[in-house]
Amino acid sequence: MAPLRWLLISVACFLFMQSLGKSETCPDCFIHSRAGYYPNSDQKGTEVGECGFGKFGATLNGGDVSAASELYRGGVGCGACYQVRCTYSYYCLDKGVTVVITDHGISDRTDFILSQRAFSQMAQSTDAAASLLALGIVDIEYRRVSCSYPNKNITFKIDESSNNPYYLAFEILYQQGKMDITAVQLCETQNFVCKLLDRTHGAVWTTTSPPSGPLSIRMLFSANDEDQTWVVPVNNIPGNWKPGDTYDSGVQVNA
Ligand SMILES: *[C@@H]1O[C@H](CO)[C@@H](O)[C@H](O)[C@H]1NC(C)=O
Repeated sequence: MAPLRWLLISVACFLFMQSLGKSETCPDCFIHSRAGYYPNSDQKGTEVGECGFGKFGATLNGGDVSAASELYRGGVGCGACYQVRCTYSYYCLDKGVTVVITDHGISDRTDFILSQRAFSQMAQSTDAAASLLALGIVDIEYRRVSCSYPNKNITFKIDESSNNPYYLAFEILYQQGKMDITAVQLCETQNFVCKLLDRTHGAVWTTTSPPSGPLSIRMLFSANDEDQTWVVPVNNIPGNWKPGDTYDSGVQVNA
């Protein structure tokens, strides 16, 4: 009996290891791909990324940002963080660079178009960075990682296109962790009547004729279809909200 039992245990272990190799059961595994960079982006990110982060997008994460192609996911991927490392052992750092998605774009079969700054950060030295830049597009591995914004709460930035009281557009900034914001409700704070908002593009949520008075913006955080949580901010947005202003939600997520 004993040899048969060992065989069964071995087969079970083998099948278990196989299942670990699949990406849906292995969220922390690196995935092979390719990455390019924005020429002339130098020490900054981009102010004109499709996520709609505006000026904030240029300095976010110290300028270590990226455009994504499929990972953009119709804007759901905006603000997501990825560890990206090139795979040439003589040029590349093992830890690579952590970037935030701020834009949508594809080059020659790339998943990422990094800022030039982020692209160079993958290298072991200035010389190695020059060699990587000369290659233009490099082989990489990437994985989703938690975003980290020490001493920041989730913050609502009223978009410059807003016009109180007719039209409200805003972006949600400084979300930590690695969940997605998949729905947003706007609630007036007298009777708590809420309505679902539209993601018009990128990270931008909008509504015509928003309620008057203080507003509460609730966010649905999703890790996958089974794991979803509504987060209710501590702070309301004042009724006299102004385009360009930012408002601290008083909450942060870490999952
Ligand atoms: C985050 O919000 C809490 C209130 O919920 C507040 O006490 C704290 O000061 C805020 N942190 C920052 C960095 O603004």
